[in-house]
Amino acid sequence: MPAINVEPCTFGLFGALGDLALRKLFPALYQLDRAGLLHPDTRLLALAREAGSDDAHLASIESHLRRYLPATDVDETAVQGFMARITYLHLDFLEREGYRRLADTVTPEQPLIAYFATAAAVYGAICEHLDGVGLAERTRVVLEKPIGHDLESSRRVNDAVARYFPENRVYRIDHYLGKETVQNLIALRFANSLFETQWNQNSISHVEITVAEKVGIEGRWGYFDKAGQLRDMIQNHLLQLLCLIAMDPPGDLSADSIRDEKVKVLKALAPITGEGLGSRVVRGQYIAGHSDGQPVPGYLDEDNANSQSDTETFVALRADIRNWRWSGVPFYLRTGKRMPQKLSQIVIHFKEPTHYIFAPEQRLQIGNKLVIRLQPDEGISLRVMTKEQGLDKGMHLRSDLLQLHFSDTWRRSARIPDAYERLLLEVMRGNQNLFVRKDEIEHAWTWCDQLIAGWQQAGDTPRPYAAGSWGPMSAVALITRDGRSWYGDI
Ligand code: BG6
Repeated sequence: MPAINVEPCTFGLFGALGDLALRKLFPALYQLDRAGLLHPDTRLLALAREAGSDDAHLASIESHLRRYLPATDVDETAVQGFMARITYLHLDFLEREGYRRLADTVTPEQPLIAYFATAAAVYGAICEHLDGVGLAERTRVVLEKPIGHDLESSRRVNDAVARYFPENRVYRIDHYLGKETVQNLIALRFANSLFETQWNQNSISHVEITVAEKVGIEGRWGYFDKAGQLRDMIQNHLLQLLCLIAMDPPGDLSADSIRDEKVKVLKALAPITGEGLGSRVVRGQYIAGHSDGQPVPGYLDEDNANSQSDTETFVALRADIRNWRWSGVPFYLRTGKRMPQKLSQIVIHFKEPTHYIFAPEQRLQIGNKLVIRLQPDEGISLRVMTKEQGLDKGMHLRSDLLQLHFSDTWRRSARIPDAYERLLLEVMRGNQNLFVRKDEIEHAWTWCDQLIAGWQQAGDTPRPYAAGSWGPMSAVALITRDGRSWYGDI
């Protein structure tokens, strides 16, 4: 039996027939169930606007579940048991009436988890109606991103929710925070004094954060085009990673201690304005190219595309943090669609030894690098200098890797859980550590809004890059200008 104790709840999934629910949330709930992490009395309510027969909707949920689970995880008994927990409830999210039926369906005395996998525009109305039928008191609400598209609109959504729910019952999702390796950043940094004592401008020269995706827009053109890569990825996932790398050690592991430290980092981010926009930020948009050797269309030729769009599908930028720990240490962030491979990694580049005593021609090789691979092939490696073996090698140096592959380390537990499994489990346990507080989102928006405003003022248009490449050439120039290069690009 699992060591974790999870209380029973009623889990209400708003938008249960949407892509996110079918692709990610039901499979994650199934995996929790299969691992014995759902209380036997926990029930799942699939809430959606679609009319039609409940049985047909349940059958559709089941068939998507089977499609999105790895074949090896489809266990017939577990699937039947899981499906037996689900009740479908047709609900117009904007109409009070349906919520009375919802209130009658929720198991008395149990907490209700209301997961909003819907457009943020209806979050406020759902909260109001939950309150109207007396459910708010015992409800935790889970908000999916995007929460707004700038500071003002995100405030509107958050304020509408806050009218009915205090912050300690609001769980804002950034699914990167649920990734096992992202969690490991906290362990790596604060359980190893070896690193923490070196974690500053005395020892670190710069930091790279890359989140590259091989896929293009995958039928989401309408949504994506209104957002772009800065809003879709930098404002949330990459800034969260930056915060976890850059924050000071929290006093304890409580949600607010960690969030307080993250907010300090966001507040210390130097705005990028004026000339900096040209030299420190690069926007790109993919044109036709190749992925896995196959020709693929450009962004403007994808299904339902508007051929005039100047939305970016790639961003690279240099962020600077104005505090003692990070003064003079650039953080290079890079993220894009249609890159050569799916890769999320953080590279910490350590400074050269202050006094260099080896052969001058080897100097370029020198410098430790800590590579934290979030996906795929999760793990951590440290590039260290050693001496080449052999009597004839003198003091000839070579660069080697100390490696930790999590898939090897965890072979016995076989599977690295999906981020959503961890996040859903933590909501059920009432633990807010892995969720984003309102002020974090707002500071992240403030920083991104100034970039977007700068682009708009300057009439900036994205630079083209071929699908299957690492982005526009100017993204290379962004880092080489500082005498550096992106780690491991081929
Ligand atoms: C989502 C973005 O938040 O993250 C998507 O909206 C992106 O555009 C996805 O594809 C990437 O997540 P992951 O876990 O596959 O790296």
